[in-house]
Amino acid sequence: MTPESRFLRACRREATDATPIWLMRQAGRYMPAYRHVREHHPLLTIIKTPELACEVTLQPIEAFELDAAIIFADILPPLEGMGLHLRFAEGEGPVIGNPVRTVDDIARLRVLPPEETLPFTLDAIRLARAQLDSRNIPLIGFSGAPFTLAAYAIEGRGSRNYMLAKGLMMSEPVAWDTLMTKLSEVVGAYLLAQARAGAQALQLFDSWAGQLSASDYRQHALPYTQHAIAIARQAGVPIIHFATDTSGYLEAMRETGADVVSVDWRVDLSAAWQRLGANVAVQGNLDPVALLAPWDALKQRTQAILDQAGGHAGHIFNLGHGILPETPPDNVKRLVDFVHEYSAPVHA
Ligand code: CP3
Repeated sequence: MTPESRFLRACRREATDATPIWLMRQAGRYMPAYRHVREHHPLLTIIKTPELACEVTLQPIEAFELDAAIIFADILPPLEGMGLHLRFAEGEGPVIGNPVRTVDDIARLRVLPPEETLPFTLDAIRLARAQLDSRNIPLIGFSGAPFTLAAYAIEGRGSRNYMLAKGLMMSEPVAWDTLMTKLSEVVGAYLLAQARAGAQALQLFDSWAGQLSASDYRQHALPYTQHAIAIARQAGVPIIHFATDTSGYLEAMRETGADVVSVDWRVDLSAAWQRLGANVAVQGNLDPVALLAPWDALKQRTQAILDQAGGHAGHIFNLGHGILPETPPDNVKRLVDFVHEYSAPVHA
């Protein structure tokens, strides 16, 4: 079975010869080849230069037998297209120079076509597809989900308790709705454009959704994710939804309308799948820290996840969150090969 059919077939819960695997943030600082490119170019330059973004996208595909590639980009550039000033500060992470704090700030946010604001990522997708097709590896496009983008837009940087973002959500419901509606339209159109440029699957990253209570998530975040997914649906490609720390309201992840739900290590994969229902595919859920452990410990945890998925069509092996920069590349190689060797063929 070609790797392409393995990943895309698992997204559709069809039979596979082995469990497909890819890793969130698989192109990144743990790879010497990535660090080499980063020595010469800032992060945003790589993202905005299609040839460089394409090169970095392919690095993990060349190094490991992964079953999917993910386009090299970040979740935050769509905020630039809306009028926010983004920079990646050395050692600090992303910073928004003019964060959204008032009703006027929200009114000023622009909703423009992705072809105008993010052409570089669409071009990078076209370039990467041309290279990946000959290897039969599918390409994943992605976007931040509306809540996580709103949290960055309002806080201006990562935050411990999201006081400003949740504060606006709780005290200004009408302004919040305006902001989230704009974000859901930007996100939906961006995902759709990526699929039309060649992305064969799409993933939404809602990294900070776990900051919300179940009822706040359902009321103030879920409807906007649903709207973005409904727009992206028109492309007809599988949609993966990723969030962390949402074990308390996992069922709501299914209500997003995604075909695949990505779960983290805080919940057992078998228990998660039972709660989500049989008619959805599941991605996950190794603790990224396990990749830093000795092989025996990593292998035992990997085996446990594969055993829990055992025999059910629609498991995509992945981490529960992004790979850590400290990860030894050799452990990634062993993990990828072991998942293919140990997993049994799955019948639909
Ligand atoms: O998966 C991939 O290989 C594709 C590329 C990708 C990047 N960011 C490149 C990147 C993806 C899918 C992302 C998603 C992303 N970006 C998320 C969601 C996933 C998650 O981890 O929760 C978030 C929250 C961001 C925002 C972001 N970008 C932060 C907070 C940081 C700084 C912290 C960090 O991890 O370094 C970034 C920078 C960033 N984006 C790097 C990479 C490879 C590392 C920076 C560098 O090279 O200097």
